[in-house]
Amino acid sequence: MEQNPAEKIILALDGMNQREVFDLVEQLPNLQWVKVGLELFVSSGPEVIKELRERGLRVFLDLKFHDIPMTISGACRQAARTGAELITVHACSGFVALKEANLAAINGAAEVGCKPPTLLAVTVLTSWESKRFSRELGITEPIEQRVEFLAQLAAEAGLGGCVCSPLELKTLRKLFHEPFKLVTPGIRTKGADLQDQTRVMSPSEALSYGATYLVLGRPITKAIDPVIAFKNLCSELEDY
Ligand code: C5P
Repeated sequence: MEQNPAEKIILALDGMNQREVFDLVEQLPNLQWVKVGLELFVSSGPEVIKELRERGLRVFLDLKFHDIPMTISGACRQAARTGAELITVHACSGFVALKEANLAAINGAAEVGCKPPTLLAVTVLTSWESKRFSRELGITEPIEQRVEFLAQLAAEAGLGGCVCSPLELKTLRKLFHEPFKLVTPGIRTKGADLQDQTRVMSPSEALSYGATYLVLGRPITKAIDPVIAFKNLCSELEDY
């Protein structure tokens, strides 16, 4: 790979407090991207984003906003003001909400001199399984079809990408070309513990199917030696 492989990897900072987060990222000098999720954001607030950015890291703010147009726009404007470069919203918020949120994020970033962030649409959460999906939500169409439909809605509303499972990459990449970003969790190197991930793919496979960024958490954060785990992951991608 010509690019620095670390530019493709987003480290999910789940299950750690602020101190543990800073201890970890300081051990990984080549790390470029981190994902701040609900747990860290709710416990530490926007200050944690500022501190991560001061350490030279790029931030994916994964708060999965889902609300009415006015509220989601306000949240996205404020999220963009933190300097986060990727921000998630639920596609189910609808066309108007997505469009207004996107514009609000662009404006919010401009207000503080940051470059406009990319809003990423969350389509169907990876924790849904088809039987429960139809029984509990009353949606009978296959999950894959729903994912495509919602990704299309997001693209039409002007969003810059979506989050998808590795198994949806191939189909979505055929429908949506770069610069539309496809960001995928569910990445595991060969022989790794799957934890609660069920639909997994190796890092190089996911890139070959068109992933823009790979989100990995526990394979690094819970590794006996996170430094070696991150280094091995980068080497695996170098050969890609
Ligand atoms: O499993 P791992 O720790 O690598 O998870 C990284 C990210 O993937 C999590 O922050 C979460 O957003 C996402 N994830 C997912 N589906 C799961 C487990 C995690 O999409 N079943």
